[in-house]
Amino acid sequence: MQELESRNEAALAAIAAAQTPDELEAMRVEALGKQGWITLALKTLGGMSPDERQVAGPRIQGIRAAVSDALAARKQVLEDALLEQRLASETLDLTLPAPAAPRGSVHPVSQVMDELAEIFADLGFSVATGPEIEDDWHNFTALNMAETHPARAMHDTFYFPDADSDGRKMLLRTHTSPVQIRSMVAQGAPIRIIAPGRVYRSDSDATHTPMFHQVEGLVIDRDIHLGHLKWTLETFLKGFFERDDIVLRLRPSYFPFTEPSVEVDVGWQDVKGRRVLGGDGDAPGHGWMELLGSGMVNRKVIEFAGLDPDEWQGFAFGVGVDRLAMLKYGMDDLRAFFDGDNRWLAHYGFSAFDQPTLSAGVGARA
Ligand code: DAH
Repeated sequence: MQELESRNEAALAAIAAAQTPDELEAMRVEALGKQGWITLALKTLGGMSPDERQVAGPRIQGIRAAVSDALAARKQVLEDALLEQRLASETLDLTLPAPAAPRGSVHPVSQVMDELAEIFADLGFSVATGPEIEDDWHNFTALNMAETHPARAMHDTFYFPDADSDGRKMLLRTHTSPVQIRSMVAQGAPIRIIAPGRVYRSDSDATHTPMFHQVEGLVIDRDIHLGHLKWTLETFLKGFFERDDIVLRLRPSYFPFTEPSVEVDVGWQDVKGRRVLGGDGDAPGHGWMELLGSGMVNRKVIEFAGLDPDEWQGFAFGVGVDRLAMLKYGMDDLRAFFDGDNRWLAHYGFSAFDQPTLSAGVGARA
């Protein structure tokens, strides 16, 4: 018993001095494990006389309790210390400045397309799309430009070397007008769509890039006339340029896919040497700027698309999106649109949070 008492004292001292959980665990096994000295001492109780056991039993149990309490207490102390150490070394300084804001911006072309979608959605139009790799039937023939039509030559078309499986010549679409055909074929009538997207022509100078953007508009319904066209364009342009004094002038023109065809001019005025849209182009100090092509959809086009032109009529228009962006936001070089220069994008780009909405204004700028 004397020996047990001194082992107990030594063990308690060692436990109090232990520096790591591993050391403690080794001490626990040594005392309380299967072959531990306390476990073995408890086993000797069975061989004792009842009198001896009555004395030795509580003492050995006392030693067992003292050692396991000491182990638990020291373990707690070591764990607390470890936690303190982690808390001290893993602090987050919440007073540091926020990281730099993301630097990407929305390209003016994307912004303008979003603005157009918003304005026309309010007039009941949905957004339609078509392939940029087109066949010459959709791009030309169905738009009343037969193989030999001289208007084809004006389009500076990029052709692919191979025809498709129907023997149609393949090309990069030269305008968004083929989406008119695709929409009529796919959904029949009535129709109210705009179709924004990329178009391609083999042409390159200060005002022409081989790829640029157009938006097509198409309305097909019963009893549609030129008045609907003019009102729609006027409403669109007033909304887009955020001015009520937008004045349009319709001039007779020619496109194979419309009859009659009209070229639409918009009045501008001189404001400190800059042409600003708005006002009657015929007034002194004012002028007219050609903006877009449009007209009543040619009967032949409606027929090509599989609809009955005696039942369905409509109007269409096409306008350059890049041009609209330049006029609204004041860029003067089209080529810069496609240079990918970060300084230009930082200057003319829009915040991703600056979504155009009719309620907040389709031209809101951060
Ligand atoms: N597709 C024509 C072009 O690219 C633009 C155009 C003119 C579209 C008149 C139309 C339209 O829908 O009616 O030059």
